[in-house]
Amino acid sequence: MVTPATRPEFGDYQCNAALALAKRLKAKPRDVAEKLKDALETRTQTWCEPLEIAGPGFINVRMTPAFVESRLNAMLSDQTGRLGVPRPARAQRVVVDFSSPNIAKEMHVGHLRSTVIGDTLARVLEFLGHGVLRLNHVGDWGTQFGMLITHLKDRHPHVLAEGEAAAQTDLGDLVEFYKTAKQRFDVEETFKARSRQEVVNLQRGEPATLQAWRTLCQLSRVEFQKIYDALGVDLEERGESFYNPLLAQVLSDLDASGLLKESEGARVVYLDGYQTREGEAQPFIVQKSDGGFLYATTDLAAARHRALEEKAERILYVTDAGQASHFDQVFQVARQASLVPPEVQLKHVPFGLVQGEDGKKFKTRAGETVRLKDLLDEAVRIARDDLLKRAEEGTQPLPEDLERSARIIGLGAVKYADLSLNRESDYKFSYKKMLSLSGNTAPYMLYAYARIQSILRKGNNGENEDRLSQGSSPPVVLAEPAEMNLARQLIKLTELLLRVEAELYPHILCEYMYDLCQKFNQFYEACQVNNAPTPELVRSRRALCVLTAQVLRLCLDLLGIEVLERM
Ligand code: ARG
Repeated sequence: MVTPATRPEFGDYQCNAALALAKRLKAKPRDVAEKLKDALETRTQTWCEPLEIAGPGFINVRMTPAFVESRLNAMLSDQTGRLGVPRPARAQRVVVDFSSPNIAKEMHVGHLRSTVIGDTLARVLEFLGHGVLRLNHVGDWGTQFGMLITHLKDRHPHVLAEGEAAAQTDLGDLVEFYKTAKQRFDVEETFKARSRQEVVNLQRGEPATLQAWRTLCQLSRVEFQKIYDALGVDLEERGESFYNPLLAQVLSDLDASGLLKESEGARVVYLDGYQTREGEAQPFIVQKSDGGFLYATTDLAAARHRALEEKAERILYVTDAGQASHFDQVFQVARQASLVPPEVQLKHVPFGLVQGEDGKKFKTRAGETVRLKDLLDEAVRIARDDLLKRAEEGTQPLPEDLERSARIIGLGAVKYADLSLNRESDYKFSYKKMLSLSGNTAPYMLYAYARIQSILRKGNNGENEDRLSQGSSPPVVLAEPAEMNLARQLIKLTELLLRVEAELYPHILCEYMYDLCQKFNQFYEACQVNNAPTPELVRSRRALCVLTAQVLRLCLDLLGIEVLERM
């Protein structure tokens, strides 16, 4: 009911509750607002100006300068490196299920989004103090392995004898391997039959088949890991196969709770609100007529395992929005069959599509799917070229470590572009936009950070300013309006992180940083820092610079982006 003010004139926060309440109370909104104001005043006195009623009955809340100053100084004097962000009253155990590509299939841009968004959410929750288990629910099981294994045995038998090293050199690109296997499956009848048999062998745990399966998984794993290493993302692999031994239990639990029904030989659950186009009840299949289990069954087992064995209190699934109804059904079934205790939160965290700059499907010029490694390399290459060009033009010196700078800017740009948009929107992939030095981009943020560092280097007299507030008198005195504005933004850090924790939208963080940079620029335009009139003011304003840089660095870190001290 209390939201950030939409405009600075309205103060820092506003409360619109009076309008909705007035309807229910059949009273005038302004009268309700008056009553709310009177009731609130004793509590708000200590930290805000007298509450104001505006328009039809909004209540405007403005923090007092003294409060802002004291909060700011508290942030500065925080010795723990948390910048005044408190630990949660009770740390939660959270599972973040993200990235989760499929073995032998392309790890595509959708998986990149999941990886970047999931990593940021995990980082924010970890920073706040929660216990996070980052799970990579890799698609490493299923009927597609039948044809892959058959193809492997046919065409590359020595790989099975010689092991993984041979697989590395021989099979190369698993995606090509997958395509060929699929082509054979579609046209060769005997191949098809043998593939089906291999699926059965795999499920039975027949050693040679299992070994072939492991080889294929290992090969993909190596490819995936290259992406995770490049992005600096930590994940624990716990693929679908992990849950195989737990599937039977799920079925019997569903049965025991009376949910299990039969439909054309398959075992299914019927859920309210799911109908076929013909208006018939749409079955949610948990076991096929041939006895095989599905993606959904595995997710039921996974939810149960995460809640009961991992003791997760919050389980987040970061996937494309297209899987919304899958998760909705999984969650409903899990609840109805009490596979997951009611107090455990199950939440799908959906995101939109990645599109090309033209708004169409994201493809290479030649019309092929873009390989993630190429996409990341290209971003780094453009960043490197930009740095070289600017050095040539003389607008900026060549960084000491060109490769490191190019990598931080290039990869940071890809991540930031993804994270700075509302995740539910589709997102147009544009190197040009994401690598631009202006606008809400990673290069802009990195540049803002480096610029503050350069200001701080200039006037530094050898003092370590990271912990400025250890002296007796509080270092920051907010005299100018621009200082005050910057300070108001800085002290909102905690509240922002708590919003990300609750709402799970990384772009909230990016918007905050972008605002912060703008407020910093206004401050720097209006106020002398190193040449301020008095030593107290120099000290105070340098403290504002230090804190701004620290907040920026923290936020970038939460987005998985390193900073550059010079740029
Ligand atoms: N492997 C799936 C895909 O590529 C994503 C898995 C997401 N996690 C889950 N528990 N279903 O679309």
